[in-house]
Amino acid sequence: MVATTGTKLEIVPLSAHVGAELRGIDLREPQDAATLAAIYQAWLDHLVIVFPDQKLEQEDLLKVTSYFGEIGALRRPPKFFPPGFNRILPNIMLISNIRENGEPIGALPDGEMMFHHDMIHAEIPHNGTFLYSVEIPDTGGDTLFASGYAAYDTLDRAIRDKLEGRRAFHHYNYGSTKKGDGHGVEAFGQASHPVFRTHEETQRKAIYVNRLMSVGIENMPDDEAQPLLDAVFDHAEKEEFVYAHKWRVGDLLLWDNRCSSHARTDFPADQRRLMLRTTIQGTVKPF
Ligand SMILES: [Fe+2]
Repeated sequence: MVATTGTKLEIVPLSAHVGAELRGIDLREPQDAATLAAIYQAWLDHLVIVFPDQKLEQEDLLKVTSYFGEIGALRRPPKFFPPGFNRILPNIMLISNIRENGEPIGALPDGEMMFHHDMIHAEIPHNGTFLYSVEIPDTGGDTLFASGYAAYDTLDRAIRDKLEGRRAFHHYNYGSTKKGDGHGVEAFGQASHPVFRTHEETQRKAIYVNRLMSVGIENMPDDEAQPLLDAVFDHAEKEEFVYAHKWRVGDLLLWDNRCSSHARTDFPADQRRLMLRTTIQGTVKPF
């Protein structure tokens, strides 16, 4: 199925529940209001949008991010710059395993990463995340996206009833890719949010807990909460709700952290991976 707007924009769904490729757009060019509105609606409809074959400078990435709201603040400026870059602009984060003097130049350098929602451990999490690929390994390093809507709609009724109206705690040690792997740096806070979140723009409900960052449920003993959370994670990560993105150089992806979670597959440690990341600030406390 291909939907076409009045412009050259083509919207091609990538899986049953999540992901669409947006073709016919060069994001270096100025975009008219109708095209921007169509792109925004495609993001709400498909949760993850893919712009293939982009050739973006850092300024372009910031401009595109600003189409979707306030640009999220960057907390960790890089110490080293990748080849071809003599600076990294504020609010752009490097995700990379490239090493200088034995130290990774970017965040989240190595290997597999469990399913998570970006910044869920913040009081007001970021609405969306952009990732732009500059260098990719020959194999692996795919990003898996799971629709929290589809998983919520099909969640076992007994489990759903036990968790409806409850809040879960979220904690994340920065830089860790698996819960408790010890490679992260201490988080500066944790937050609690509804287990099932209502998206303030679509009004749909989505699962809003994840295997990497969710650590318990308010007012519920851990021996009761953990099996319920595990059941929700197992359900939410089922293949039928997931789109697996195989990166190409020049792909720009935007995902909605309010209604989708994502994970990364392993990749060879001796191959370079370099991505530029920006985020869109959230505007409301999750409800
Ligand atoms: Fe992430």
